[in-house]
Amino acid sequence: MRKPFIAGNWKLQKTVGESLDLAAALKQETAGIDDIDIVIAPVYTSLTKVADLLVGSNISVAGQNCYPAASGAFTGEVSPALLKDAGCRYCIVGHSERRQLFAETDAFINQKSRALIDAGMGVIFCVGETLEERESDQMYDVLTTQVREGLKGISAEEMQNLVVAYEPVWAIGTGKTASDEQAEEAHAFIRGLLQGLYDENVAEATRILYGGSVKPDNVDGLMAQQDIDGTLVGGASLKAADFARIIHFKRG
Ligand code: 13P
Repeated sequence: MRKPFIAGNWKLQKTVGESLDLAAALKQETAGIDDIDIVIAPVYTSLTKVADLLVGSNISVAGQNCYPAASGAFTGEVSPALLKDAGCRYCIVGHSERRQLFAETDAFINQKSRALIDAGMGVIFCVGETLEERESDQMYDVLTTQVREGLKGISAEEMQNLVVAYEPVWAIGTGKTASDEQAEEAHAFIRGLLQGLYDENVAEATRILYGGSVKPDNVDGLMAQQDIDGTLVGGASLKAADFARIIHFKRG
């Protein structure tokens, strides 16, 4: 059985004070849950304070991005080791917003995954097709390339420190969630890719999260799918009550 993994990506939102308020509310709402991995990803400027607030809780903190170098003349960048030092356990890589708005390539995302694993961090590795790619029957090719190139050189053992997030670009921030069947189909395909790249054990053990307009009213159906092991939530992770309801998804 794969342990559910529910993550909130706060994107570019919330001051330090607002981040602390939300983290404190979530800490209360999730007290006592020990059978779900719960993760939140605030902006860089809130990380240390939020991480300090959550020490001893069952919520882990993630960075939203990193640069794949330990240190050096890289103005504006943050390394995996510094994220770890700030109290992060995970970092998101490959988010479609970074692929699209910041022209990040599969090779660069692969370097980030490598650097995070080398620094002892967990990786939330995102993939997903655009609407145009889906409608022109390129979805499977796109997912195959993103998974194969992004995970290049990551060993079967290292895959224990990585979760995959399938986020169809057309479902992000649009309120247009993939149907349970569409999401399950993509997840099963990605699991098949992992089986081909690694083996049955890695494919069965790796958690695959769904992201894209996950809300309190659609999480139960998504989480009931065989290959959906968690969610990566944007908008609905910004309100404690909504994110708490998503964490408390109904199990079949
Ligand atoms: P929304 O939940 O706002 O669609 O965002 C999804 C996402 O991009 C999470 O990383």
